[in-house]
Amino acid sequence: MSATAHRAIFDKVSLHQDIATVLIDEVTIRKRVRELGDIINREYARKDLLLVSVLKGSIVFMADLIRAITIPHEIDFMATSSYGAGVSSSGVVRILKDLNTSIEGRNVVIVEDIIDSGNTLSYLARIMQERRPASLRIMTLLDKPERREVDIHVDWVGFSIPNEFVVGYGLDYDEVYRNLPFIGVLKPSVYGASD
Ligand code: PRP
Repeated sequence: MSATAHRAIFDKVSLHQDIATVLIDEVTIRKRVRELGDIINREYARKDLLLVSVLKGSIVFMADLIRAITIPHEIDFMATSSYGAGVSSSGVVRILKDLNTSIEGRNVVIVEDIIDSGNTLSYLARIMQERRPASLRIMTLLDKPERREVDIHVDWVGFSIPNEFVVGYGLDYDEVYRNLPFIGVLKPSVYGASD
């Protein structure tokens, strides 16, 4: 049995009990994702397009976004790590998995779940620009502007949110809660603070 199988969280019957409030519900997310898909449809009609999802948090957004996009496009994935098991960004970005495809001469949109300090995207945008794409733009579902440490231009934001610890719709705490279908605020007691 793996070490994670012993974690107390797996004793829980429902993850919902750890949620203080629902910040963005399923219906609101669905509507906004459709709008973001329409933006891509308009901006990239009759153009080459590669969407790059930054694992793992963006997978749920990416899966819904590509189904809201009706024009032809390709997808690829990168994996980075910044948070570990903590709740704040370390400022250190590691590439765990690089793209499978060359982006030279291509129109690339990076798809993120959340921009917090900005360290991850600042680093990714820099190394991707060095690969000479025809264009490089950034779409994020969530933005926490209060937490920004580095200046970064974000082209499209789904929701600008306050500085709360959010989980669900792909976002995790300690690798759990990604499957919640809404964006919820985690009870502080879950990560060792008082509620
Ligand atoms: C999260 C999120 C972004 C990054 C944003 O990823 O998906 O990639 O942090 O934070 P920043 O703006 O402070 O750099 P995380 O490292 O938690 O990995 P995950 O997507 O696998 O959960």
